[in-house]
Amino acid sequence: MDNVARKIEALREKLRHHEHLYYALDAPEISDAQFDAMMRELEALEKAHPEFLTPDSPTQRVGGKPREGFVKVPHSSPMLSLDNAVGEEELRTFDQRVRGLLKEDEAYAYVAELKMDGVSMAVHYRNGKLTQALTRGDGTIGEDVTENARTIRSIPLQLKGSHASRETRGEVVLNRKAFEKLNAEQEAQGARLFANPRNAAAGSLRVLDPGITASRQLEYFTYFLFADGKPACSTQSEALEELKKLGFKVNPRSGHFKNIDKLVEFCKDWEEKRDTLPFEIDGVVVKVDSVEQQNRLGWTAKAPRWAIAYKFPARQEETLLESIEINVGRTGAVTPWARLKPVNIGGVTVSRATLHNEDEIERLGVQGGDRVLVERAGDVIPKVVRVVRHGQHRVPFRMPKHCPICGGEIVRAEGEAISRCINTNCPARLKESVLHFAARSVMDIDGMGEALVSQLVDSGLVKNVADLYRLKLEDLVELERMGEKSAEKLLANITASRQRPLPRILNGLGIPFVGERTAQFLADAFGDLDKIADADEEELQRAEEVGPKVSQSIRRFFHEKRNRDLIERLREEGLPFQYQAKRKIGGPLAGMTFVLTGTLPDLSREEAGDLIEAAGGKVSGSVSKKTSYVVAGADPGSKLDKANALGVKVIDEAALRKLAEKTT
Ligand code: IVH
Repeated sequence: MDNVARKIEALREKLRHHEHLYYALDAPEISDAQFDAMMRELEALEKAHPEFLTPDSPTQRVGGKPREGFVKVPHSSPMLSLDNAVGEEELRTFDQRVRGLLKEDEAYAYVAELKMDGVSMAVHYRNGKLTQALTRGDGTIGEDVTENARTIRSIPLQLKGSHASRETRGEVVLNRKAFEKLNAEQEAQGARLFANPRNAAAGSLRVLDPGITASRQLEYFTYFLFADGKPACSTQSEALEELKKLGFKVNPRSGHFKNIDKLVEFCKDWEEKRDTLPFEIDGVVVKVDSVEQQNRLGWTAKAPRWAIAYKFPARQEETLLESIEINVGRTGAVTPWARLKPVNIGGVTVSRATLHNEDEIERLGVQGGDRVLVERAGDVIPKVVRVVRHGQHRVPFRMPKHCPICGGEIVRAEGEAISRCINTNCPARLKESVLHFAARSVMDIDGMGEALVSQLVDSGLVKNVADLYRLKLEDLVELERMGEKSAEKLLANITASRQRPLPRILNGLGIPFVGERTAQFLADAFGDLDKIADADEEELQRAEEVGPKVSQSIRRFFHEKRNRDLIERLREEGLPFQYQAKRKIGGPLAGMTFVLTGTLPDLSREEAGDLIEAAGGKVSGSVSKKTSYVVAGADPGSKLDKANALGVKVIDEAALRKLAEKTT
């Protein structure tokens, strides 16, 4: 037993070490797969020996259940805010005031830290273990978000090499990439968009379900270390060093200055470079380094006299929204945007801003002719923040019924936020359609990359996906960067794709809501493309997982003449429209859903899928609570994390074979 306990503790230590390298230092030393394997080993041991399970184990980040509400807890000392300095002059005034309050000729220094644009949070440790995390709240009383904070991987559950009782204060942020990804997901689900990374961080931290926080890739950058509500070190620079030693993420781009000129330079430098950072900053926080001097300088009712926030100029400006226009994207998505009276925002002239979709326009209550506040942040497309004043002659936005590029019908499916041009031949979306058709998991035409597809479409050689099957060697060799060898190879790959079975063709058509999984169900249920094309909605809904939303979309697609013509062309090319369902009704895996991730030792993805389906099971592309098993091989992806987070069972290839064999 003792042996197991030791092994468990050794694994935890290793995992904590690698978690720290990865999440706090951004310097991993092992692969994700190795990390995951170790995590699984620990999980298995803890499952077999629950008596050794402790809340500070790296496996216990997402343990909490959704709660009813937040508990309010007083802070150890108020979480104050800072006075602002706008521009160099105000920063110099601050310095003069500091000097005036210190003794004549007394030496002093500043620490300058980037002002991360997120939400502040206090995290408490007792005897080295994380006990509580509190939001700022009203500054005096915060809200207990401990379970959510535990899911943030850059927050150690246990102080590194210390059993001290400490409190850290820092900023929870979402980097720009994660923010954009989150908003894209929100948009796809028709959910509300977050206005900026700070709102997204706040919204992700203050949720009742820790599982949501866990999925949002939040980071925690610390800047204060307290013991008993007071600074734990005698200088701020020492505190930053100590925080690093304790395993926290500390922004590495801080500076130490004995001279105001150098400090001003630092602030201006970051003002210019702010867009090069992966996250948003809205200024620089300047702190007197010595805690003893801080205490002498003291506080006003609202803010310390020993620190100031050098604020960067706003990146929001007011202007006239001249009109609301639309743009047809590569997926057929019709996106409204605002034509603006050109306005200079932080040195860049902005004349258009995104409006995302109709719901967003409604939420903003904006119409053509209104005065609006526009924000530009980093390389993010400028956006309308809010209406400042209604115009005198307002023009409401109406989504057109037909695509301005091709005249095809524009449709907004029920429950969807996005309207789309449903004509697959619309030039604006043709390239995307061809890429999707040729993708590995669809018709699998190797070599059909973005550059080539662009050339094929722009030259007029390909006007729909069926044209791919009429390409000739002499057409291809004319294209840029295309030798005879590669042209021959490409043609061979195109020819090979003629054999792909119906589910892939169906997926390849790009019918909204019909992806790999639904295409398979449709092929299983109908066994014939013509039957699917002719089926009414009620008939379509007999296929598994096809509800009103999907059936309506399929009907719409086949109703469009262009799409029916495309089907005829594909028929002429001899693509197989008939399909023999593989799946057995019944079988040992009946009613079970599997998700595959990573490389299995013997079976390819396809073979594993066949094995599962032959035994009556289903394969799905994404992990949910309904997933029966995740089958993981080497180098598994994020699906494994998701499985672990949701408590879905994870098995290997051998276990899958055993399950599938049970009664066959
Ligand atoms: S120090 C007495 N340091 O900016 C409060 N704040 O108004 C001192 N912030 O509420 C805060 N980065 O949310 C400090 N390196 C940093 C910071 C930082 C971001 C935020 C924090 C605070 C606000 C100041």
